[in-house]
Amino acid sequence: MNKVLSVNNLCKTYIVNKKQNNVLRNVNFEMYEGEFTAIMGPSGSGKSTLLYTVSGMDQLTAGKVIFCGKDISSLSPNKMSEVRLNEMGFIFQQMHMLRNLSTYDNIIVSAYSSEAGKTKEQRKKINEHAVELMRKLEIIDIADNDITEVSGGQLQRACICRALINNPKMLFADEPTGALNSKTSNEVMYELNRINRDGTTILIVTHDVKVAARTDKVLYIVDGNIQGELQLGKYTEESPGKERERKLSSWLMDMGW
Ligand SMILES: Nc1ncnc2c1ncn2[C@@H]1O[C@H](COP(=O)(O)OP(=O)(O)O)[C@@H](O)[C@H]1O
Ligand SMILES: [Mg+2]
Repeated sequence: MNKVLSVNNLCKTYIVNKKQNNVLRNVNFEMYEGEFTAIMGPSGSGKSTLLYTVSGMDQLTAGKVIFCGKDISSLSPNKMSEVRLNEMGFIFQQMHMLRNLSTYDNIIVSAYSSEAGKTKEQRKKINEHAVELMRKLEIIDIADNDITEVSGGQLQRACICRALINNPKMLFADEPTGALNSKTSNEVMYELNRINRDGTTILIVTHDVKVAARTDKVLYIVDGNIQGELQLGKYTEESPGKERERKLSSWLMDMGW
């Protein structure tokens, strides 16, 4: 299996009011193609910071992050944004969508400005891909709706379409179900599991046991340090969900959750 992400002695320090805050302290982990990993840990432990530094959205202070063979800490900001646009997908808790644009336009807008959206022919492909994704995630009916005219679950599924429009090698998700009720949260996880089965590597931050129980592996972070790792094995729709949740809950309790 190909290694997609390799994180070596990653450190991130913020300086606020001349005070040093060592948010990430020597974080090490790896991800292989097709893996689905969750990061859990107390609030303020550095989960979001970890996601943002390994995906090049935020600069790291020390250490090394290799993404698909590229040392992202050595890339120029321009090159890094190209990598983000062409090879990574992002989903957030707060769904950053552009108002006054239809759901469909929100999904295709970033792809149009990417390497794969320069020519008329390429844009036609993007349009077809957007329709295909919207059909798969069952939101094709709201393609023309303004983003203020759709439900939270529909909007998050639109965010997933947007994140997948460029066929990213890896998807980064920060509490993607944090603002959703349990039914819509399940729907979103159903889609993420399906995308993962189709080969996309996913790293997700979550505080929801039900959500993390549907991933392959959970990393537990405390004070910017990975304190433990739980292997859950691949999730399928036939998996004994409750058993996975119990195993995870009991491990989390041991970790001091
Ligand atoms: N942009 C920033 N500037 C300064 N400090 C930050 C910034 N982002 C996060 N932090 C600090 O880093 C720590 C970890 O934050 P975060 O990664 O958001 O935690 P989590 O996602 O686990 O709740 C917190 O102490 C937070 O105040
Ligand atoms: Mg966070």
